[in-house]
Amino acid sequence: MRDRIELAAREILGARYCVALTGAGISIESGIPAFRGPGGLWEKIDPEIAHIDTFRRDPAQVWRLLIRGMQEVLRDARPNPAHVGLARLEAWGLLQGIITQNVDGLHQKGGSRAVVEFHGSFARQRCTACRRRIPTEALDLAHAALPPRCGCGGILRPDCVFFGEVIPPDALQRAHRMAAECNLMLVVGTSATVQPAAMVPLRAKEAGARVIEINPDPTPLTRQVSDLLIRGKAGAVIAALVDAVARLRQASTK
Ligand code: OAD
Repeated sequence: MRDRIELAAREILGARYCVALTGAGISIESGIPAFRGPGGLWEKIDPEIAHIDTFRRDPAQVWRLLIRGMQEVLRDARPNPAHVGLARLEAWGLLQGIITQNVDGLHQKGGSRAVVEFHGSFARQRCTACRRRIPTEALDLAHAALPPRCGCGGILRPDCVFFGEVIPPDALQRAHRMAAECNLMLVVGTSATVQPAAMVPLRAKEAGARVIEINPDPTPLTRQVSDLLIRGKAGAVIAALVDAVARLRQASTK
């Protein structure tokens, strides 16, 4: 693994425009379970609950089974060394942006600024009637009747993408632009199975970028798209990667 980290660190230092695509795996070490695999959310609840048709049919049930629990988990989550490490690369001018499928806001809490929230954000709730947005932390879900409502009487929903919904156009456009422009993409902690996010590394590859995956397990990208897989947990791998970059930067200024 050390050789791979050294190689990746050199690629990051040599890249003209480096972008990261992140998924649920990067936040596991912050205590947020992933969707797929052992311990994943879809082992506990049926993914149909996260479909927009289910929400339209029975918003109270979706609030009860999915959204209220998400608020409890996300409220206490803190960035881990992977989020902080990516923020450090951005601060050094070595990472131009992050496209994240996560709705937990941990990249921003970890210090990243250029973040595209491909599936929206759980930090806000949006009124389905007047479209007003309010901070999720302003809701007292322990005591509120479900579904919670806006002052106008409309039902509130997270400002995230449910299954069956389109990606926010602005996020889609920015992600496509970043994928087309980058010459290095780090793909961290995603199973790369949900479209259109899974197309992002493919677009980068087609545009000539190198693709480095960080994941304990191979994914559908590993054999066909990725140039390098660093097998391991995001926290340890990214921390080691940032250390290696720092060492090489220091060596080059001596
Ligand atoms: P998944 O749950 O599908 O995949 C999590 C990935 O993280 C897997 O590839 C794991 O091998 C990897 N992983 C596990 N532990 C890790 C660790 N410590 N460090 C790094 N990687 C680790 O999550 P996503 O690919 O993000 O969409 O899922 C994509 C979308 O599916 C989500 O955004 C969500 C979901 O349905 C919507 O809700 C619209």
